[in-house]
Amino acid sequence: MQLMEPYRIKVVEPLPITTRPERERLMAEAGYNPFNLRAEDVTIDLLTDSGTGALSAEQQAAGLRGDESYAGGRSFFRFRDAIVDLTDYPHVFPAHQGRAAERILFTALLRPGQVSISNTHFDTTRANVEMLGCEARDLPCPQALDIDADHPFKGDIDLDELAEALETDDVGLVIMTITNNGGGGQPVSMANLRATAELCRRHGVPFFLDAARFAENAWLVIQREPGYAHWSPREVAREAFSLADGCVASLKKDGIAHMGGVLAMHDTELARRCEQLLIAGEGFPTYGGLSGRELDMLAQGLTEVTDPAYLRARAAATEHLAQLIVDAGVAVVRPAGVHAVYLDAGRLLPHIPPHMFPGHALATELYLAGGIRCIELGSLFLGDIDRDGTLTRPARHELVRLAIPRRVYTQSHLEYVAGTIAEVAKTPERMTGYRLVESPAVLRHFKCTLAPVVM
Ligand code: F0G
Repeated sequence: MQLMEPYRIKVVEPLPITTRPERERLMAEAGYNPFNLRAEDVTIDLLTDSGTGALSAEQQAAGLRGDESYAGGRSFFRFRDAIVDLTDYPHVFPAHQGRAAERILFTALLRPGQVSISNTHFDTTRANVEMLGCEARDLPCPQALDIDADHPFKGDIDLDELAEALETDDVGLVIMTITNNGGGGQPVSMANLRATAELCRRHGVPFFLDAARFAENAWLVIQREPGYAHWSPREVAREAFSLADGCVASLKKDGIAHMGGVLAMHDTELARRCEQLLIAGEGFPTYGGLSGRELDMLAQGLTEVTDPAYLRARAAATEHLAQLIVDAGVAVVRPAGVHAVYLDAGRLLPHIPPHMFPGHALATELYLAGGIRCIELGSLFLGDIDRDGTLTRPARHELVRLAIPRRVYTQSHLEYVAGTIAEVAKTPERMTGYRLVESPAVLRHFKCTLAPVVM
């Protein structure tokens, strides 16, 4: 069957079209850091799928019905019902975004010196664990390390290592990221979630989901895991939530909204502690840093995101983009997930060594060549770099992430992206490396500046 976007477009925004000389100037002015570009100078923005989705007409209508009362607003109850319908967790707290929910949960749950275990902590999740004096330990399954392996569930946690850690260490929490963003947007199987839940229960350790992309994970379970082909995405999502004690989630992804997060759980005593932190830091528990308008739009977005037609089209668009890129001779992390395609810049640019950041070179060139903005996920972002800018430990892979906003770009936009990549890939030797000019000690990739190296 020919796949197409299962919606039509009612409101449009012009795309900024710039020339290469203009982009060369803009990129130089931005210190060769795409985060410093103004969005109005970007033609196709694949920096993130977070908070960048398009609202539906029903979400806009729901927003107008938003109740902006300080306490007990109707919007909260609609939001809570939408979360309970999915998760069945009785305690539901809105938060302004995912990282706020994480901070509250970890502060309420972890004691200094404890270990948080994950398939892969997202960066903010890791930061929130470490800021409490705890260790954030990633235990991805071995297949996750091989970017070419066509294993269906490279988001899984390594169960043997998890079992060992639960025996020997003071584990305060196990948090499973679905899908595994840090690990290439790979899904986690229900079998792996179930086994993790059992191990946690046996050791009395709380088990939470980082459920930012719960619907996309459910879709990939239906496609790839034996026994789930006839389940609906909502049924799979409910099953996943039922295995855990609670969840944190950035709703800027599968809430298809511009802002929002949630923290939800079974444990009443833990919920009481979280509620105090919520009031102190985010807001009264019936709004938690969000407006009534946003709570209502989220409640509606959370029902739309599990529509099989929507998920099928989104997954197919990403797969189509990945295939066009592979056909152009550029390797990508296999198999393609749903929210992003990850390019293997290390393989395309063997003449640029890790300390000259090949992923960054490719990401920059995609902007110069086609006005496409995306981010490096390689040694610049993930490597160890000392104070004078020297790379002391490279990242395992030199990747570039093309994150796809929800319902924003059509297939022809994605084909334009693939066409630009194909053009750039014809003469990879023309790309040069980069050196760091300024590098802040924390959150380097957001604020650093770079300069091209004449090679
Ligand atoms: N967990 C995961 C798996 C995420 O991908 C993100 C954000 C967060 C937590 C934090 O949520 O931004 O609402 O505070 N990921 C974005 C990205 C920023 O581009 O991948 P937040």
